[in-house]
This record gives sequence, C-alpha cells and structure tokens, in this order.
Amino acid sequence: MPHARMKSPMTSIDDVQLRLAGQDYVCGRALATVIYLALTLNRPLFLEGEAGTGKTEVAKAIAATLGRRLIRLQCYEGLDASSAVYEWNFAAQMVAIRRAEATGEPPPDLFSDDFLIARPLLEAMKPQPGGPPVLLIDEVDRTDAPFEAFLLEALSDFQVTIPETGTVRAPEPPIVILTSNRTREVHDALKRRCLYHWVDYPTHDREMEILAARAPEASAALSREVVAFVQKLRTEDLFKKPGVAETIDWAKCLLALDMINLSPEVIADTLGALLKYQDDIQKLHGSEARRILDEVRAEVG
Ligand SMILES: Nc1ncnc2c1ncn2[C@@H]1O[C@H](COP(=O)(O)OP(=O)(O)OP(=O)(O)O)[C@@H](O)[C@H]1O
Ligand SMILES: [Mg+2]
Repeated sequence: MPHARMKSPMTSIDDVQLRLAGQDYVCGRALATVIYLALTLNRPLFLEGEAGTGKTEVAKAIAATLGRRLIRLQCYEGLDASSAVYEWNFAAQMVAIRRAEATGEPPPDLFSDDFLIARPLLEAMKPQPGGPPVLLIDEVDRTDAPFEAFLLEALSDFQVTIPETGTVRAPEPPIVILTSNRTREVHDALKRRCLYHWVDYPTHDREMEILAARAPEASAALSREVVAFVQKLRTEDLFKKPGVAETIDWAKCLLALDMINLSPEVIADTLGALLKYQDDIQKLHGSEARRILDEVRAEVG
C-alpha cells in the first residue's frame, strides 16, 4: 500500500514564514524549513541557542497561528516526572473523607479523575477542542538525566501512565517543541528523536525586520543605529551577550527617553537594558562605548 500522504497544518515553507510573520515573528528560511518538517512528519522540534533569540516565542507564534492551545512545561532543576504529569489534590481528598465520615455515606474513590490535577504533560495528551495542542518543553537543559529519560519515553508513544487510574494516550500527537540554552548537553537519545535547529543571533537585516515588527514606533534611523551597535557588541568579549529581547528592550527605552539617535552618554545611561552583568557594564563605560559607536557610525554613515 502506498504511504498515505501526511497532512500538515501548514502547507509549505513559505506558508510557515507568512503565518509566523502574521504573529510578528520573523522566521528565517532554515527555521521555517525545520518547522514545516516537524509539523509534516509529526516529529518533536528541538531548538537550541543563545538566550533571547526567539526559541520560546516561536512556539507561542506557532500555537497562535494554528489556533491551538499552548501548554508549557517550564523545566527547572529538580523537576521530577510526577510533578510534570499529575498531582493528587490532597486537600480535596481530605474534605471528601471528612464529609463521608460526617454523613455516614460510603467514602468516595479518592484516586479518581475528580481528585486528579493534570500537569502539563498529562494535559497535552488529552484531546483539545482546536486540535492537538502545542507542547512547549522549555529549557530542558535545566533538568537532569532521569527526567530526560522519562521525557524520551513520554514522547515516543505520546502516552503517560497514572498508576492508580491507568494510561492516557493522546488521540493525536501534540506538536512538541523543546528548547535549550545549552547550559549542558542534552542526551543524544532525546535529540535523536527530534528535528534539531540551532537558533543563532540574527543577521543585521533580520534583526532590523524583528525590530520593525516588535518596536514599530522606532524610526528607521534609530533602529539602524541600535541594531548596528548591538551587532557590534556581540563581537566584543562579554560574559553575556545581548539577545534579540535586549535589542527590543533597548530600543523601547530609548524611545521612552525621546532619543532620536545614540550618544555615548545615553548609551552609558541605558546599558542596563542591554547588559545584565556588572563586569560587562563596567567594560562598556567610558571610552569603549564611544569607540563602538564611532565604528558603527563609520559603517552606517
Ligand atoms: N525572530 C523573532 N521575531 C520576532 N521577535 C523575536 C524574534 N526573536 C526574538 N524575538 C523577541 O525576543 C523576545 C525574546 O525571545 P524568547 O523569549 O523567545 O527568547 P528565548 O530564545 O526563548 O530566550 P531564553 O533562552 O532566554 O529563554 C521575544 O519576546 C520577542 O519579542
Ligand atoms: Mg525561552
């Protein structure tokens, strides 16, 4: 029998780019391709990259344009399988027991759906009105190896088991997006299950597009200076380079101060929007900011 043609919620790579643009998300060809493939082949998408480069945002944009529910599992150190899947509502169980005692009625089944609190992974396996949800497993590098192993299992058969009530299987697999800042390497076995894409800092032109989408109030002249300055800053030896989020924040700060272009003084006063470490800020104070600005002006002008 010929392989059934898979149906994808987005019709082409161009369609991905267009629809994400409709959500003010600027998506390069390479990212659009891997998103299209993930949707078409029903494979989880693993996005790794620097902080503030739009990894989390793309999951939100995909959910929004498809009209799907976004279910987010925020990972953290010490997150364990059970709190990612479900919890029992102890307080409600207690009340039910007391009520039964008081009225003399038979005690309720304490391990039924009535007392179950679904956490993101269980929620994502349940049918949703608009179609399979987008399951965002955010910052997976913050968890540990046992949790990864558990995820691997959950993502291979799209089902989770609750010992007391049984197994819940997704009628249709959710759209799964995992992100990582690569604070550590995520295990190969988990990556192998996914399509992988490294989300880099945008090029100058793409960052201009992003700024136009996210801070449209900024003039072209100011945006050009801001983007050129941030791009140059990323080539400096910094502890923590500014991401796209910082570019947007900085432009908004400058707008709030009614600045129409950069000066060494205003840069010094607003560095906190761009750099979040005192050592980096220290480095930029004084002549450094002026030097970078001069280089930027020479290029832009
Ligand atoms: N390609 C893009 N198009 C539009 N906006 C973008 C893009 N990339 C980043 N942004 C903006 O930057 C902000 C930060 O992006 P996001 O939170 O997705 O980064 P991240 O990669 O998840 O960072 P972190 O690793 O710190 O969680 C977004 O809220 C969005 O405003
Ligand atoms: Mg993020």
